[in-house]
Amino acid sequence: METIVRDLMTSPPVTCAADDTLAEAARAMQQADTGSVVVTDEGKVVGILTERDLLRAAAGQGNPDSERVRLWMTARPDVLGPDERADAAWASLTSHHYRHLPVVEGGHCVGVVSLRDLMAVARIRPAGEASGDVPAGLEGVVVAETTIGDVRGKEGFFHYRQYSAVELAEKRSLEDVWHLLYNGELPDAAASAAFGEEVRHRRALPQGLRAVLPAVCQSGAPLDVLRTAVSLLGAELGWRPTHDIGADELHDQALGLCAVVPTILAAAYRLRQGQEPLEPRDDLGFAANYLFMLTGTEPSPLHARAIEQYMILTIDHGFNASTFTARVVTSTGADLGAAIVAAIGALSGPLHGGAPSRALDMLDAIGTPERAEAYVRAAVEAGDRIMGFGHRVYKTDDPRSLLLRSVTEQLGGPLVEFSQAVERTTVDVLAELKPGRQLYTNVEFYAGVVMHTCGIPREMFTPTFATGRTIGWTTHVMEQAAHNRLIRPAARYVGPPPPQPVPSPDA
Ligand SMILES: CC(C)(COP(=O)(O)OP(=O)(O)OC[C@H]1O[C@@H](n2cnc3c(N)ncnc32)[C@H](O)[C@@H]1OP(=O)(O)O)[C@@H](O)C(=O)NCCC(=O)NCCS
Repeated sequence: METIVRDLMTSPPVTCAADDTLAEAARAMQQADTGSVVVTDEGKVVGILTERDLLRAAAGQGNPDSERVRLWMTARPDVLGPDERADAAWASLTSHHYRHLPVVEGGHCVGVVSLRDLMAVARIRPAGEASGDVPAGLEGVVVAETTIGDVRGKEGFFHYRQYSAVELAEKRSLEDVWHLLYNGELPDAAASAAFGEEVRHRRALPQGLRAVLPAVCQSGAPLDVLRTAVSLLGAELGWRPTHDIGADELHDQALGLCAVVPTILAAAYRLRQGQEPLEPRDDLGFAANYLFMLTGTEPSPLHARAIEQYMILTIDHGFNASTFTARVVTSTGADLGAAIVAAIGALSGPLHGGAPSRALDMLDAIGTPERAEAYVRAAVEAGDRIMGFGHRVYKTDDPRSLLLRSVTEQLGGPLVEFSQAVERTTVDVLAELKPGRQLYTNVEFYAGVVMHTCGIPREMFTPTFATGRTIGWTTHVMEQAAHNRLIRPAARYVGPPPPQPVPSPDA
């Protein structure tokens, strides 16, 4: 699939009228955090005003409160169509030294594309070809095309396929969302029942894994047990390299893996507690069965639904580290087990999967609402991070945390009011001590409250995240395998200049 302008443009565009003042246009740019404003007349593009024009106006000592945009804008600018290829747009911008171009469809302005947007797709090029520097951590670099979903950080929005993930969590079951990811469409009632039936019957541990699990559980945390168990499972079931199998076989393996992961994790927890694992129940949904196998008690519908919503919200989230890892391993043609073992390894790192239990530990440490301000103030002044706050992508409310907060309200319990009070205080103190950083709660803050209230032990918080996320990982494995090209970037060598003479051993 080719990247086109529509995929990259900022839409809707920030617009103003030719008779607006420069000050009004500058305010519009500042509010939307963009470097240009499209000048329109009844939706039609008549000009474009950029930061450079504002600088020119300032240098010319024009009064921004009285000077009109029409004096400083570039009239009748070149425009792009939304279906033009990104590399054609890149050529157009760079050859004319433009930084921003309006995107026009049906005579009306539908967006703006900037050099910065295009840089994101232009950065990674094969070794040997001219290439720009890639930011540390690949931040903002587009490394693939996907139809699975996306995260729009500035808008506080993320989606699976073409649906809002939050709306899916509000309206559908986890199995329906799983069907959406695996088959590209939401099931109707009959397809939903058939899919639910199919996956319920695949929950039991296979014999080989069942036999060795007690020994595996003697060491390692539950997530480590899962990593080893997935490796054993792939070997027991004879999973062959994705390179050598067709899409149907991979789909079938992935379905079975997602169905059995909750059983592995619940068994691991119980074995580590010296208890017998429980057999899965095929009269319960994915989340309810998981809670049952973990706690030994059939959960209330309220608790089962709360955990189901949490799992739906965390199935997928863009090209996070574990998802990218799964795709890199798949790109070598390795088998499904290898890709998921690698993804679990990436998730186990504290910078990726570890915050919900830490957020709850913090609530414990704060103890009462009155102590929140002093605690947060002291922590921030000491240079510490407040767990469950801030996000690399979201610079507004994390949509997952908003839904989980309302889930905690439905659940009730002693932690609800307390956690909300701590949230309010923390947001205020962070706004005061870290102005302009836009720090709000992330998914982890209320995830811990929800899981704790529903009876999930703290050591099972990150493993519980992995139960739903396996659905996301495997969807990415299938997409990568279906349109595969080996992921093999390059690095810049910065050591001593080669070739140096190799010293002899006795020199
Ligand atoms: C999630 C996180 C790693 C994102 O970090 P990031 O995008 O790299 O943000 P930065 O580290 O560049 O932080 C930007 C500024 O905000 C501050 N900041 C970010 N998160 C903060 C937090 N939770 N508490 C206090 N200050 C925070 C940083 O100190 C920094 O301030 P500075 O400009 O004075 O140096 C970060 O917000 C964090 O550590 N949060 C706490 C852990 C957590 O909840 N993790 C779960 C994530 S889903």
